[in-house]
Amino acid sequence: MRLQKLFSSHMNNESARIFNSAITAPAIAAAFELKILEELKQEGRLCTKQFCQDQNLHQETVAEILRALSYFGITTPISTIDKNIFGPGPNFADVYREKGYFLWLVRGYAHMFQNLSTFARNDERGVSPNFCRNGNFIAKAADDYGATFVDSYFEKMLAEFPFKTAADLGCGSAARLIKLAEKDRQFRGVGVDFDSDSVGLARDTIKAHGLQARLKVLRQDASTLEQCSEFEDIEIIFSFFMGHDLWPHDKCLQAFRYLSVAFPAAKRFLLCDTYRSQMDGVSHIPVFTLGFEFTHAIMGQYIPSISEWLDLFPEAGWKCVNYVNIDIPSSAIFDLRPA
Ligand SMILES: C[S@@+](CC[C@H](N)C(=O)[O-])C[C@H]1O[C@@H](n2cnc3c(N)ncnc32)[C@H](O)[C@@H]1O
Repeated sequence: MRLQKLFSSHMNNESARIFNSAITAPAIAAAFELKILEELKQEGRLCTKQFCQDQNLHQETVAEILRALSYFGITTPISTIDKNIFGPGPNFADVYREKGYFLWLVRGYAHMFQNLSTFARNDERGVSPNFCRNGNFIAKAADDYGATFVDSYFEKMLAEFPFKTAADLGCGSAARLIKLAEKDRQFRGVGVDFDSDSVGLARDTIKAHGLQARLKVLRQDASTLEQCSEFEDIEIIFSFFMGHDLWPHDKCLQAFRYLSVAFPAAKRFLLCDTYRSQMDGVSHIPVFTLGFEFTHAIMGQYIPSISEWLDLFPEAGWKCVNYVNIDIPSSAIFDLRPA
């Protein structure tokens, strides 16, 4: 009786839920990477044994991933006889849509979470603000959540204004440039990123699509751009989920002012970013927001509020003619024109 009481208190307390969710988050990221989520979506079922044989995966590991997903109703066993067969659970659709955030968190920031207490000690932090993130996985994750939550808004805004050349600042995998180049054979573009992993990924992906003649990727810091011939005839600049990395205010102001010098032909700048949520003290914080603000605070990276962005644009010589909130919490695309 006493044992049963003790056991049920362990099962129902909030601490157990937090602990189990800390295991399920990496399980979701792994299920995304191993195409377990895709198999469940496409086929409506997954037989662990068969899937592991086909993909050469360690069956016990995959079984535990599926068990962790089941705990949160992401998958569900669908056969009482064969415990190896799973189907999508009631929470599958939500998690499938938001899988990119889990990859971002788990693979992008694993080192930070493993060493959190170290990064809280001033004498052990290190010097670079990007010391603890994995650019390759952050770029891959951004491809997924970008395609799901951002690109329909972006494409609608792009269609308002004809162009043949564009630059993507903080281009990550360069997925947006590749999509534009595949859609229009006249299109030429240049991606800029300061992270060697992202630049490598972008160049490899461009090569795999056979687009090297029309798309270039330069390794440069967007806060201290160098003038170069690739920028001279660029009509549209865009930037996704990098703008906050240029803050604090004075550094970003200088970088944005310089854009019209570096890109003398630019008629438009579409800036998409996540701004400070100002949700302190709210218990139901949406997916992504807490992770975004948490990781950036640890890196010592200031996140501006939307009003701080709107105040900076005219100061930097850009007129904001419109902005559209997108399907990522506290995120918008700002439509800027040279003032
Ligand atoms: C969250 S990822 C987004 C990638 C891509 N724009 C997308 O939406 O899929 C941010 C990217 O900006 C790059 N970045 C951050 N600060 C930068 C800077 N100062 N100069 C150039 N690239 C930067 C990072 O390396 C990373 O690839």
